Amino acid sequence: MVKRMKEVYLYGAGNIGRDIYGKIKNTCNVKGYLDSDPAKWGKTLDGVPIVGGIDSIPELQYDEIIITITTERDAVRNVLLGAGAPVDKINTEYVNTYIGARLNFIQDLSEVYKNDAEGFAVAEGGVFQGDFAKAINSNFPDATLYLFDTFEGFDVQDTFKENERGYSDSKSGRFSNTSIELVMSKLPHPRKVVIRRGYFPKTTKGLEEERFFFVNLDFDLYQPTLEGLRLFYPRLSNRGVILVHDFFTQTFHGVARAIEDFEKEVGHCLIKLPIGDHCSIALVKTE
Ligand SMILES: C[S@@+](CC[C@H](N)C(=O)[O-])C[C@H]1O[C@@H](n2cnc3c(N)ncnc32)[C@H](O)[C@@H]1O
Repeated sequence: MVKRMKEVYLYGAGNIGRDIYGKIKNTCNVKGYLDSDPAKWGKTLDGVPIVGGIDSIPELQYDEIIITITTERDAVRNVLLGAGAPVDKINTEYVNTYIGARLNFIQDLSEVYKNDAEGFAVAEGGVFQGDFAKAINSNFPDATLYLFDTFEGFDVQDTFKENERGYSDSKSGRFSNTSIELVMSKLPHPRKVVIRRGYFPKTTKGLEEERFFFVNLDFDLYQPTLEGLRLFYPRLSNRGVILVHDFFTQTFHGVARAIEDFEKEVGHCLIKLPIGDHCSIALVKTE
């Protein structure tokens, strides 16, 4: 007997929704997306209809609504409950893994390699509102943390190349709703933090002698990811790690491409370890 596929809606028709759809489309019957933005209603994402917002919930038949929004997850869950979705039909498993695995990874890494990390700096390329910068700063309290971002979102010179080559349909100015003050307010050890504001890699002067134990590359786009690998990989300590977000994404194809092109430049394959968030890849340096 053929087992009936679970019928689901995805709450959140954005990049993470697309990624989760890619993971489950062969094992679940994805009937559609729900989204709070009325401008998306009636459209499709990868052929899947965006059927409406929370007001549609009482009319829908489903086994589960899968939350795909990473921020304010409890608030989103409460909104769905308030709209009449039964508690046992709201699935936060995917989004918890997406966020939680990366946080567990950095915590465990800092514990296992406490001694190796000593004396080295850490960094993040692509900071946005500082949520992962907070995790880096908390887990490496003694290390200087360099943070690189325009703090004005994607730059047109990157998005132009990105769109031209078909890596993504990213728009300039995306992720501009942030500020240095907001980021700094989240960091537990602000005195260890050096902000490098502006277009990366133009903001990297003076780092020639610096060595790094951990770098999170989360620029989303091909060119700054490639530049990040060129800058940080040669300056990584033995057993140091560059974590590259969006390696497995359905949305930002330039990231995996940048790693591939960097491997061609250095003439060998990098050690690549998935970390279980279905999104990031850890590049481990061995000398
Ligand atoms: C997805 S967000 C980073 C999310 C963040 N790491 C987190 O975990 O919350 C990507 C960031 O990369 C920044 N960015 C992309 N290209 C850049 C470039 N060439 N120079 C500086 N910042 C860049 C954007 O401004 C944006 O804030």
